[in-house]
Amino acid sequence: MNFVVTGGAGFIGSHITHHLIEKNYQVTVIDDVNIETLENFGNTIKTVEFKKINILNYEDLRKAFRNVDGVFHHAALTDVQESFRKPNLYYDVNVKGTENILKIAEEFNIKVVFASSAGVYGNPEKIPIKETAVRKPLNPYGITKLECEKLIEKYSKRGNQVLTLRYFNVFGKRQTGSYAAVITRFLDKIKNKTPPEIFGDGSQTRDFIYVDDVLSANLSAMKSDIGNGFFNIGTGIKTSIKDLANLMIELSGYSLEPLFKKPVSGDIKQSQADISLANKLLNWKPKITLREGLKNLLSYNK
Ligand SMILES: NC(=O)c1ccc[n+]([C@@H]2O[C@H](COP(=O)([O-])OP(=O)(O)OC[C@H]3O[C@@H](n4cnc5c(N)ncnc54)[C@H](O)[C@@H]3O)[C@@H](O)[C@H]2O)c1
Repeated sequence: MNFVVTGGAGFIGSHITHHLIEKNYQVTVIDDVNIETLENFGNTIKTVEFKKINILNYEDLRKAFRNVDGVFHHAALTDVQESFRKPNLYYDVNVKGTENILKIAEEFNIKVVFASSAGVYGNPEKIPIKETAVRKPLNPYGITKLECEKLIEKYSKRGNQVLTLRYFNVFGKRQTGSYAAVITRFLDKIKNKTPPEIFGDGSQTRDFIYVDDVLSANLSAMKSDIGNGFFNIGTGIKTSIKDLANLMIELSGYSLEPLFKKPVSGDIKQSQADISLANKLLNWKPKITLREGLKNLLSYNK
């Protein structure tokens, strides 16, 4: 089979690409980074078909989608803070880029798995969050994901196969994006034997999911018979930021205490996915605990 991974040079996309190559599928990565900067591929770079295409370039995308069986669409601008400064750019790349992919997938009858975000929920009214919860994003990045979901609803009604995965806080090796930024921030501090900094009292919670489990969710979605749907992809477990900091310190073996800083305004208080829908319809469930995932991450970053 022949797959395209858009954003395949990025954090999650590179994990999907590596796996597909290992399984001997034909894979094309579409990303607008320069090939020299594909450090996420190390030695496997020779086995990746890489096309430097901006997803806003409809004609080049269309050429790259010939004879493709499925698309893992992960290309996006992903920095929440930057999205406040450049909302129009975020709208163009994330929404118009996604519409290009949906149009071409419709023309060639290609199944799409789309990377959405728990950011579409904003500050949830209650946890665990179900897929039917109100979608009220708090930042331009989240708004672009909501707009993509609306487009997907429209294309799905026309019979296109698009499965949407709403990721919670993904973490793992080779992470660069801003989403589980708290883990990368803590890691940078702890590696240098300096205390991790917590904004507020640390009681705010997040649902952290290891990237290998996100990979398996993508594979389950691509192979499922279900044509459409929106699915939470988290662990279903909430962890407070204070507990996260203490766990990372414990695993590092260093003797450190977290530092408490002023709270950040607009910080989401609680986040936790209800993953029963993905469990039931995609036959998927996460396997890696936060402790195991963090252990892997810490040994990778030694
Ligand atoms: N990491 C998370 O915790 C998380 C959470 C929710 C949703 N997501 C979504 O998952 C997807 C992957 O996230 P990630 O963490 O791997 O991000 P990432 O920033 O590491 O990867 C995104 C990739 O998209 C590419 N890209 C950006 N603009 C492009 C364009 N115009 N044309 C072609 N390629 C372009 C980038 O070069 C990059 O390689 C994104 O859609 C993101 O919104 C991630």
